[in-house]
Order: sequence, then C-alpha cells, then structure tokens
Amino acid sequence: MTKKNIAIVTGASSGFGKEFVKLIHYDSKFDEVWVLARTESKLLDLVSEFGEKIKPYIIDLSDYNQIKLFINYLKEQNPNIKLLINNAGFAKFCSYDDISIDESLNMINLNINGVVAMSLGCIPFMERDSHIINVASQASFQPVPYLNIYSATKSFVKNYSQALNVELKEKGICVTAVCPGWMKTNFYSRGDIGAKKAPTHFTLMKNPEIVAKKALKDAYNNKDISVCGTFVNFCRIFAKFLPEKLIMKCWLFIQGIKE
Ligand SMILES: NC(=O)c1ccc[n+]([C@@H]2O[C@H](COP(=O)([O-])OP(=O)(O)OC[C@H]3O[C@@H](n4cnc5c(N)ncnc54)[C@H](OP(=O)(O)O)[C@@H]3O)[C@@H](O)[C@H]2O)c1
Repeated sequence: MTKKNIAIVTGASSGFGKEFVKLIHYDSKFDEVWVLARTESKLLDLVSEFGEKIKPYIIDLSDYNQIKLFINYLKEQNPNIKLLINNAGFAKFCSYDDISIDESLNMINLNINGVVAMSLGCIPFMERDSHIINVASQASFQPVPYLNIYSATKSFVKNYSQALNVELKEKGICVTAVCPGWMKTNFYSRGDIGAKKAPTHFTLMKNPEIVAKKALKDAYNNKDISVCGTFVNFCRIFAKFLPEKLIMKCWLFIQGIKE
C-alpha cells in the first residue's frame, strides 16, 4: 500500500499554528494535514474551514504518556511525514514565584519535552527531503527576566534544533528553528496572569501570517534558523556581541521593570 504524505502541526488550533495550517493545507504534496491540540471544538473548526484533508488529533503534548499513544498511532498508520511543525508552547509573564512549581514544570514539559518527544517519535517516519520546523522565539537569544523559564525553554529549542539539523543531514531531513518576535495571537491571554512585575510592552507586534510564510520559505531553503524582521535580526546580533547583563538591563528598561 502506498504511504500517505502528511504534515503534522502541533498547537494548530489558534495563532501561529493555525497560520501554518492555512498556508500548507492546499499544498498538493500533502495528502493529509494532521492538526494536534487539546481543544476538540477548535480542531473541528479547522476541518469546517479548510476541508477534509485536515485530520484532528486531540492531545496534551505536555504529557509524555499521550505522546507515546500518538507514536503508537503513527506505527499503525505508517505515514510518510513530509513536514512536522512543533509549534505548541506557552509562556507566563511573571516573576519566578507568581506561578506554582507544577505550572513551571508544565511549561518545560510542553515547550521542551513535547518538542523532543514529537521529533524523536516522528523522525522514523520521515524520508529524504522532509522538514522539521521547531518554534522557538526571539527570547531564545538571551536570558529574559520575568519570562525566565520560557526564555530558557526557547534557548533549548533553538540549540536543540540547530544541532539536530546537523545530525539529520545524512538522512536528508532539515530542522529549522523559528525565532519570532511578538506576534498577534492568543499567547498573551494565556501568559498574562496580572502579575505585579511582568512584561507589558509588546513592541513591533507582527501578523503571524507574515512570520509563518517566512518560516516555511526558510525551512524549504534548508536554513537552520528563521528570523523575521529587522528588529528581531538586530536583537539576535546584539545578543551575540553584547554582555548578557547589559541586554537584560535594556529589556528591564524597555519593560519599565525596576530591579
Ligand atoms: N505570540 C508570540 O508573540 C510568540 C512569540 C514568539 C514565539 N511564540 C511561540 O509560538 C508558538 C505558538 O504560540 P501562539 O502565539 O500561536 O499562541 P496561542 O495562540 O496561545 O496558540 C497556542 C497553541 O498551542 C496549543 N497548546 C497549548 N498548550 C498545549 C498542550 N499542552 N498540548 C497541546 N497543545 C497545546 C493551543 O491549543 P489548545 O489550547 O487547544 O491546546 C494553541 O493551538 C508557541 O510555541 C510560542 O511560544 C509566540
């Protein structure tokens, strides 16, 4: 039996993930687009909006047991995964002690463990000329106070993706870390918990469609990193050459947060 060529998008039910679904659903190289998230109704809305090619799979990607079930499902279906987009993730805008240990670890489980488990689970189903896009962030370039765990998880995603890309070259699989600045999505409603000290100035917010288009273009050009916009590019260069302490001070100044 011929294998189905599929794309998988995690966190597909809103924001950046949904933009990826919008851009790839009509691409004839995919027989199906598997969309993963926790909220069934929003995934079903994607089927109504984009058609039968969309296959919803309800999953909490912070839970490795659920990812193991998904990997078993892959073994049953045996698809050819042409594109995996590890996009699901969240932040909390607050100080280290404004959220519980459980919530802090849940962020790590989704933003890091979810990305690693999904990548490792999907690679055996990928052939040459396939792509993994891992969504990191501008926050991956340096430590970010009041987004401390989030920025650390995104540094992991960036470094993991770039190193994995080198290891997967011999298999013809390209891994791209996407590092967006602020984008107009639901990210803020989940992240804002009304903390006393928190980022509140979200400058130069971009439309996620523009960032997703650039990410796909960079991935298909086999780039290991995708950065969209002059400001984010500057931030990446500054982070390489300026002392981290100075960059953190600038961040706190911009956010109006006193040390
Ligand atoms: N927006 C920004 O400014 C910005 C900037 C840089 C990077 N990013 C990154 O972009 C990615 C997408 O975020 P977004 O901005 O599009 O935010 P969003 O609108 O809140 O979307 C998050 C998506 O992830 C899903 N999700 C959340 N928790 C999940 C879990 N435990 N298991 C499975 N799915 C889960 C959500 O669906 P359910 O709630 O239904 O599960 C939703 O589809 C994230 O990795 C984020 O860190 C965002």
